[in-house]
Amino acid sequence: MLLIKNIGTLVQVETSPRPYVSGGAMEYLPSIDNAFLLVEGGKISDFGHMENCPAIEGETIDASGRFVLPTWCDSHTHLVYAGSREGEFVDRIKGLSYQEIAMKGGGILNSAKKLQNTSEEDLLEQAYGRLMEIARMGTGAIEIKSGYGLTLESELKILRVIQKLKSMTDIEIKATFLGAHALPLEYKNDRKGYIDLIINEMLPAIAKGNLADYIDVFCEKVAFSVEETITIMKAGKKYGLKPKIHTNQFNCMGGIQASVENGAVSVDHLEVLNEEEIRCLQDSETIPTLLPSAPFFINDHYPPARKMIEAGLPVALATDYNPGSTPSGKMPFVLSLACIKMRMTPEEAINAATINGARAMELEKTHGSIAKGKIANFFITKPIPSLAYIPYSFGSNLIEQVFIKGKSL
Ligand code: NIG
Ligand code: FE
Repeated sequence: MLLIKNIGTLVQVETSPRPYVSGGAMEYLPSIDNAFLLVEGGKISDFGHMENCPAIEGETIDASGRFVLPTWCDSHTHLVYAGSREGEFVDRIKGLSYQEIAMKGGGILNSAKKLQNTSEEDLLEQAYGRLMEIARMGTGAIEIKSGYGLTLESELKILRVIQKLKSMTDIEIKATFLGAHALPLEYKNDRKGYIDLIINEMLPAIAKGNLADYIDVFCEKVAFSVEETITIMKAGKKYGLKPKIHTNQFNCMGGIQASVENGAVSVDHLEVLNEEEIRCLQDSETIPTLLPSAPFFINDHYPPARKMIEAGLPVALATDYNPGSTPSGKMPFVLSLACIKMRMTPEEAINAATINGARAMELEKTHGSIAKGKIANFFITKPIPSLAYIPYSFGSNLIEQVFIKGKSL
């Protein structure tokens, strides 16, 4: 049993848990000042005002002057990758665009070559280091994609590494198969050949090993068309993999409509988004997930978050941690970008990074808020003056202690 007492403010508390928070409601972040939080068996067993704090025998932590928040739910990452791509970073400084680099055979294919030549052990060690680094910054649930393998063997290697990460930590991990991340060079003149490989060889092997929860496709001019995306989503669904789709990073092509029609759990990126696509999302259960550190890093424009919130949508925020467009998995920085570059309020950003991120991984029943019976994943900040201080003090680590399943990291 663990008791956190005298909490300055306990944030994102729910007495009747909501699946997600949309539109105007995102501005409201239910909180209790001068609070306690009780943990039993790795779960939240009680919380409330200090007046009602139980006397317990067991570990007690005094969190005076501090905020306690549920850990971040990062619903979009590619953190199992090999090496780095700072050469392309310099190419962009000198004037090449992200899309030009991709079209020259760099980008994702560059990472795939590195990963194919990296052992499973080495890959696991690199990924574990990244995961632990971001856990210390408050991430307690995460989705990780494959997509830098692009061969049967290497895609399976990534997905096995994700399973190993699951067994090595209590952080909640969801796995997504992203074989359709880029077209390998050897299939340059045979797109159908690669899609057949995904459908007829990769998917059955993944399903057999129970290696993935979701299917993803990079629906974009430099990657896969809407028709190809639909074909792959449908194939994934046959194996019980729901779609979570990369779309609208650079072009509006119909990826949102196709994803919604196929019951996508989320559509991710949305740097470009038109009115018709907003309307389509309004009529859906699909979570629009924004990844502002990607446009930050490749110097692109940001998704229209305000427009989406004003249209009543439940916006989620995630890092997109990957070696090409976002070599960073820092959720606090994503919150700062959301506030500074997309004009989300700190309350909206925190809702987007907790409960809505949980929903984008179908973890809203167990993660994303402080509620009785949910997993005890939370963090205690250093003494700070207000909640807005978190996104305000960008780049600083304000977290004092992170708890995963009730245990201190
Ligand atoms: O989400 N856009 C597609 N995939 C990744 C980046 C991939 C890469 O450049 O390695 C993303 O931004
Ligand atoms: Fe991504």
